[in-house]
Amino acid sequence: MAWKTLDDMDFAGKRALVRVDINVPVEDGKVTDTSRIERIAPTVDAIQAKGGKVILMAHFGRPKGQVVPEMSLEHIAPTVADVLGLPVTFVNGDYGDAVAAMEEDEVLLLENLRFNPGEEKNDAGFAKRLASLGDIYVNDAFSAAHRAHASTEAIAHLLPACAGRLMAEELGALEKALGTPERPVVAVVGGAKVSTKLDLLGNLVTKVDALVIGGGMANTFLAAQGIDVGKSLCEHDLADTAREIAQKAADAGCEILLPHDVVVAREFKAGAANEVVKVEDCPADAMILDAGPESVAHIVQVLERSKTLVWNGPLGAFEIEPFDAATNAAARMAAKLSKSGALISVAGGGDTVAALNKAGAADDFSYISTAGGAFLEWMEGKVLPGVAALG
Ligand code: 3PG
Ligand code: MG
Repeated sequence: MAWKTLDDMDFAGKRALVRVDINVPVEDGKVTDTSRIERIAPTVDAIQAKGGKVILMAHFGRPKGQVVPEMSLEHIAPTVADVLGLPVTFVNGDYGDAVAAMEEDEVLLLENLRFNPGEEKNDAGFAKRLASLGDIYVNDAFSAAHRAHASTEAIAHLLPACAGRLMAEELGALEKALGTPERPVVAVVGGAKVSTKLDLLGNLVTKVDALVIGGGMANTFLAAQGIDVGKSLCEHDLADTAREIAQKAADAGCEILLPHDVVVAREFKAGAANEVVKVEDCPADAMILDAGPESVAHIVQVLERSKTLVWNGPLGAFEIEPFDAATNAAARMAAKLSKSGALISVAGGGDTVAALNKAGAADDFSYISTAGGAFLEWMEGKVLPGVAALG
């Protein structure tokens, strides 16, 4: 791999500027999921163990170059301190004094970078100002690497740069899943809309041996085959596109699996009266909310004969019971196969991780990415600017 890691750098007596992604979910002022903070701990520990000082740089939300007090990282700093088990000093405004006064084990956390309009513009001046605070640049924010921003792109050219532990781990896992995978490879792609995942599907059909399409997206593919999907979520205007993707898959020898039986209901709500029907028999006044048991059995068979799985998106309306059944069953089978060593499984995306957690399957997956948008763009075959800049 072309990028350097922490092992290639000498941190003794140096200040490391570490770009992290602590864009964590917050409800009523409380961080509800600390995963992204937990996952940067190995990088912070390694730099300190090598005698370096750590300055964390991050964004929060989308303040669009303005100071938005609710989006200050000051609110997150105590949680970062708790999770890292280190003194964390939040710094705002002129960083110079705080940087000069840093203690060995003290971690500095700079204010939300996106309060400065230069961040999202990948502004050279802002990058230079940030770079002046440290000696080495470490990017540990894979989940923000699809953004070409001052702290992810421009700065990497101004200081000796390397990937942090989490960045290296994410790239390694994705490479194993789609770069040079053990075959057969199956991809599970679900979610509401085909329109948001066109590039993803187009790239995957050329890379994987089987592609399971689920969720609302599957309806668009079924409708494109002339199946009446009733009141189901469906992008009818994408019928041609769906047929093109199916053709591309056929040309590449990728098997596409669409549901052949489905769970339908008249209302989109938890516990709604429902029935299992063949896809051809979806009633005109009903909507498809999940894949049916026969379809799940088929997905399970494909998982059993695969060596590698990449997963993005739920198979049904997993947020309302009982329409989480297909997602749960497939996730649990993938988890079981992964635990036994038969399958390498990689999953990413906010909804996906929520669905796998809900199924109790996430812990046994081989790798859970911290990334949403960056995971998708990587799977689309795109070059991530934050990764490219490290090369
Ligand atoms: C994320 O939460 O997906 C990353 O932090 C990137 O955030 P963004 O989509 O606002 O750039
Ligand atoms: Mg996002």
